Formats: sequence, structure tokens, C-alpha cells
Amino acid sequence: MTAHITSISISGLRTLEQFKLDLGGLTVLIGENGSGKSSVIEAFELLRRLTNNEFTSNYNHIHGGDGLLLRQGSQEIRLLVELSQLGSWQATYEVWFSKVGVRYEAIRVCAEDSTWIRPVNRSLNELEVFSLSGDSGFRELISAYESAINQRASGHPDQIVRDVIDAIRHIDVHLPFDTLAHWAAKSQGSRVPPMRDSVTIAPAPKLDRFGSNLPCVYHQLQNESSREQWDYTMELVRMGLGEWVESVNTRSDPGGGRIALSVKPRHTDTQIPAASLSDGQLAYLAFVALTQLPTERSVLCFDEIELHLHPKMLSQVLYLLEVVAEKVPVVVTTHSRRLLDLLSNPASSVAILDFDSQRWRTELRRFDAEALSAWLKDYEGLGKILDAGYQESFLSEPAS
Ligand SMILES: Nc1ncnc2c1ncn2[C@@H]1O[C@H](COP(=O)(O)OP(=O)(O)O)[C@@H](O)[C@H]1O
Ligand SMILES: [Mg+2]
Repeated sequence: MTAHITSISISGLRTLEQFKLDLGGLTVLIGENGSGKSSVIEAFELLRRLTNNEFTSNYNHIHGGDGLLLRQGSQEIRLLVELSQLGSWQATYEVWFSKVGVRYEAIRVCAEDSTWIRPVNRSLNELEVFSLSGDSGFRELISAYESAINQRASGHPDQIVRDVIDAIRHIDVHLPFDTLAHWAAKSQGSRVPPMRDSVTIAPAPKLDRFGSNLPCVYHQLQNESSREQWDYTMELVRMGLGEWVESVNTRSDPGGGRIALSVKPRHTDTQIPAASLSDGQLAYLAFVALTQLPTERSVLCFDEIELHLHPKMLSQVLYLLEVVAEKVPVVVTTHSRRLLDLLSNPASSVAILDFDSQRWRTELRRFDAEALSAWLKDYEGLGKILDAGYQESFLSEPAS
């Protein structure tokens, strides 16, 4: 099983300076425009890219390098995540980088002694092991460390380092699904989103960003899950789209090799091609795929979860995510008050990002659970309370 990420600390990234976010279950980030929510999501994406050899090039050419990311006045971006493999080990992964590359990278595994394992030169083959307290001999340390690990984690340090890297690689970051209407794409000369089009059949271990392999994911769900699981998936689809849905189908092109998605209504012989579904219907199908496909993940992140969704559909999506969050940490950002009204545990889920323009930095605030629950007796939900302007009454002081 993939280890989970239990917190992220960020500094030097735009407004994020000495910023720490604890994760567990569902975390909902809210805050005004420019408060730093998307930057937190981008930090997760940067972490994921660190496991690939092209990191420095990706940092500069995809993420815009220091010019778009680095906080004014900072020399580098520093990220640290805490990870946990349930019942086995806890670790931190820390990395410092800028446009010239990674300057420092360390993995600390918490066993019985306090020992660092550091991949040198970004190569996992060479491990440098040293102690923080540090005066015992190098060899001694390794064997002390290994026996501690063997007792507690039944794994070689090498293996734990690999597991940490594997968890970082399995950070899953999503932005709103690309549901752009067929005509809108055509009229600006761009490609019709793959969700609406036919795509080459390929294995689908995960739903790709923007839902670009959605037909493949449904194909796989239909062909590789049990009958019961597939029926359940169709129930979830009906929960969002309505009882009129008989099933979701993947039709092959006459030429073969490519498939497209369609929805079959009950009581008719026609199919509705994905190309003519509404944005919200298509996005909902993608949320079902995202949450029902068994995907290895250390955390699931989703920026602006509510885009395209009617409040009723949004509540179904929240249900899908709360179920996933029982197994793996989920982080979403939203501006939807409706979603906040619907949360099962608003005090523990919601984190408010507040941009302090004097200090030019994001402050993280949480709710005082007791004070909030007193307020909730008089209001329908957290969203309503925030709309009425009472948030100061039950917000804790900024964490930093
Ligand atoms: N180089 C920089 N240094 C400091 N702050 C920056 C820099 N570049 C952009 N910003 C600020 O960072 C914030 C980015 O916000 P973002 O993460 O997109 O917020 P949200 O998703 O909450 O709307 C904006 O407030 C922007 O003004
Ligand atoms: Mg944003």
C-alpha cells in the first residue's frame, strides 16, 4: 500500500512562507482570490515532478521557474512533507530548489533512533546515512539503524527510501475537468476535449488530468471490475445524473482501436454521445471515474472542485470524495458556500487561507470546533454562517 502524506510545509512559494497544512481525511481549503489555495495545489504537483529526472526543466518550462513561483525576496522554494505508512514507519521528505536545480534533498525516517537517510545526487543507489546527534561511527549507525527498522518496519532502509519516493510519485493532482463544448472548441480552432471525443484504447491505472482518458477508465471499470462493482458504479452515476440513466457505454470506432463515451437512457434505443452531454454531466462522470477506479495514491488534490456543478450534483461529488477520504488524504479548494454547508465535519475539514497584505503572506486559520458547533445550532451550515459574516467569532488565531 502507498504511504500517505500527512502534512505539507511550504516556504518561498509566492505568498506561502512558513506555511504548514496538516492533512487527514478531507481537507477543504477556502479563502479569497489570491489567498494562495492554488499555490498549495501547485506545490503538490512540484513534489510529484521531483521524482522525475526532468525536474529542473519542468520547473523552469512548465511551472515558469523562479519568475512565476519564487516569493519575492526568497532564494529558493522549500517543501517538506510528512509521510506515514500505517503501523510501519513515519518519514519526512524535504527538498530545497530554485531555477538552478535541487540544492538539498533529504529523507528522514523515524525509527527508534534519530537517523537521516539522504539520497545523494538525486540517486537512490548511493545512500548517505548519518546521525543528527552524530558522534557514533558511520558503520555502527547503519547497523543500529537497520536493526531498529527490522524490528519495527521489517524493511531495509533502502526499501523505505524507495517507498517514500514512491509515495511522492503517487501524489495525484487534479484541476477542473476539461469539458469545453464541442462547438466552443471548434470555433476557436482548438481540439475537442478528449473526454468528449474518441481516444485510443490504453490501460488506465488512473484518471489522467483534465479527464483526458475518461473513455479508457470507463472501459476498464466495466471490463475489469466485478459485476457488483460495476452495478454500484452505475448507481453512483444515477445518483448524480438521474434515474433515467440505464448505463454508461464505451463505443468503439468503426475503424477500431479507439473508444468514445456515451450514456444510454432507459426506454430509448439511442445513446447520448459524450460530445453532447452537458459540462456538469460530463464532469460528474469524471468524478465517479476518479473515485471508483482503484488508483495508488498518497494524497488526492483537486483545485476548484465546484466548477460546472449544480449544487445538487456538488453534494453527490462531496459524498464521493468523503468516501475516498476515509482511505487516503484528500485536499480540495472551493469557493462554494453550498459545499461548506454540506460538510460532515466542517471544523476539522476546513482551513481558511487569509492573505495578509502587510506581511505579504498567507496565514492559515482553522475553526474552533466548540465555538463553531454552537453557531451551527442556529445556522444551516458553515457556508451560511460565513455568508452572514460571522467567521471571526469562531476562527482560531493564525497558526504561524
Ligand atoms: N513572486 C511572487 N511573490 C509573492 N507573491 C506572489 C508572487 N507571484 C504571485 N504572487 C501572489 O500569489 C498569490 C497567488 O494566488 P493563488 O495561489 O493563485 O491563490 P488562489 O488560488 O487562492 O486564488 C496572489 O495573491 C499573487 O498576487
Ligand atoms: Mg486558485
